[in-house]
Amino acid sequence: MFEAVLPIIISYLLGSVAFSILVARWVKGIDIRQHGSGNAGATNTLRILGKGPALFVFLLDVGKGVLAVFIGSWFSGGSIWVMVLSGLASIVGHNWPIWFGFKGGKGIATTVGVMLTVAFIPALYAGIAAIVLIVITRYVSLGSLVFAALTPVFVLLLDKPLPLLWGSLVLCAFAFLRHRTNIAKLLQGKENKLGAKRM
Ligand code: G3P
Repeated sequence: MFEAVLPIIISYLLGSVAFSILVARWVKGIDIRQHGSGNAGATNTLRILGKGPALFVFLLDVGKGVLAVFIGSWFSGGSIWVMVLSGLASIVGHNWPIWFGFKGGKGIATTVGVMLTVAFIPALYAGIAAIVLIVITRYVSLGSLVFAALTPVFVLLLDKPLPLLWGSLVLCAFAFLRHRTNIAKLLQGKENKLGAKRM
């Protein structure tokens, strides 16, 4: 019990460290959630602060997903269920951070970190598809949604263990839940494109 609950709690607290909020506060003295799309994530950091801070935030957000999976592994002696649940907990923390009034991001960078760690090849294939789509359409949100939707598909096609399938389906549900506004804007043709000044 201890081997499962403790890493999940630690991973949630780790995921709650919202790097976009911290970086925006340090660099510009602003709350990133009151600017751009209002999202506490790397894409909005790119809009508001530029490429360097955005890359920094992205790598840290990916990194906390990776670390959460390792924390799950260390505490449980490599239980795949605990690794997946710890990864999920870090994404819950990112989306609803305890340190920042439960108003966080959309969890994609942290999802990338989690999935690359537990299911590298499915995440790689889904990631390549997402990047191609983002380059073609310049809609980061569309690429994020495609990444989230394709990951469980590749997990299934490549016959990965059941916890990975459940985990990737939950991650997909989180991503669609958090991108509701983006989906509405995409459907209306009003979604912000990468490189555009306003959303
Ligand atoms: O991962 C977040 C991205 O998909 C959308 O971000 O700021 O355009 O809502 P944003």
